[in-house]
Amino acid sequence: MATAKLAVLGTFIALLGSVSCQTQSGYGGGYGGSSPTPTPTPTPSYPSPAPTPPTAGGLRVGYYDDKCPNAEAIVKAAVEAADAGKKAGLVRLFFHDCFVRGCDASVLLKPTSDNPQPEMLGIPNLSLRGFEVVDAAKAALEAACPGVVSCADILAFAGRDASASLSGGAIAFAVPAGRYDGNVSLASETLPNLPPPFADVPRLKAMFAAKGLDTLDMVALSGAHSIGRSHCSSFSDRLPPSTGSDMDAALAAKLKADCASPTGADNTVPQDYRTPDRLDNQYYMNVIGHKVLFASDAALLKSNETVGLVYAAAFSQKAWQYKFGEAMVKMGNTEVKTAANGEIRKVCGFVNKPYSG
Ligand code: HEM
Repeated sequence: MATAKLAVLGTFIALLGSVSCQTQSGYGGGYGGSSPTPTPTPTPSYPSPAPTPPTAGGLRVGYYDDKCPNAEAIVKAAVEAADAGKKAGLVRLFFHDCFVRGCDASVLLKPTSDNPQPEMLGIPNLSLRGFEVVDAAKAALEAACPGVVSCADILAFAGRDASASLSGGAIAFAVPAGRYDGNVSLASETLPNLPPPFADVPRLKAMFAAKGLDTLDMVALSGAHSIGRSHCSSFSDRLPPSTGSDMDAALAAKLKADCASPTGADNTVPQDYRTPDRLDNQYYMNVIGHKVLFASDAALLKSNETVGLVYAAAFSQKAWQYKFGEAMVKMGNTEVKTAANGEIRKVCGFVNKPYSG
């Protein structure tokens, strides 16, 4: 077991070492010079996301340069004005958008008489936040360049900018754009597509694979659980007196106390008590120390397929930061809409024309 772990760890670090040495032109951060391996071999399966990233639906970096030159700056300003909680919410919004019907801003659609049960009313989405940041960005964009920038691209830029901000600029990557907005949004599609907090590794792997993401992407993206908060109801099954949870006893006792007052089961707690507002690899140390909230987080330590990746990310902050950005770009390719099957919404909460079924 120990040998297997070391082998996976070595492979992971070598893999990330290879991408770390590729050109990162146009990046504000990432890691260039200090590769963990001295003589890396470029790995075709993990190409750099810039300057010619692998994209779906004709996405490309700099898509708005000639259409709305300040588009990315406008989104960034809106994100910068938000507090750390909403920034965490924006990272999660992007994930929840992409996993249900692709990255098409379907998660932003509000209930209407035509469509009373959109995605945002699905159980996993009831705790989403950051919508007002997207709305503020969209209002500013419509004033600058009416009808040009999609809400789906705003979500992708905002997820990137929130990640950059919460990592102190260390996670910085170029976002290919050109997504169109979808006009179908169904609450019934959320539970089948979004992983639950009690999922084990086979289930997590299958749900990420369904979106074109592999185990390495999944483990890297899970580092987002180093920011933001969770409702107690999402992990209360792991607290005493329930048995079968391997959560660190001191954390379990603290969570139990924090969840008990003042209002009970739906208090919220930080996902990472050590660096709650910092997007960093503390998450992986928490996984190793049994100090994570969800069974799905704890599961990463229990599977031979993920344990080495957890140790590798804990070992190399820079390697994980790079891979996180790369996986965000990859997630952003999910089932992207084009002009043929999408639109550029005027406001992000409503389709331009009523839903026609
Ligand atoms: C691996 C499968 C995942 C599961 C089972 C999962 C589950 C959850 C749950 C249950 C919460 C707490 C919701 C609440 O009670 O308020 C949460 C929060 C969060 N998740 Fe995940 N998640 C997963 C993957 C991801 C990914 C891929 C990302 C982003 C890349 C992400 C980003 C976040 C963030 C930032 C929060 C905190 C949000 C806030 O403070 O508003 N999660 N997740």
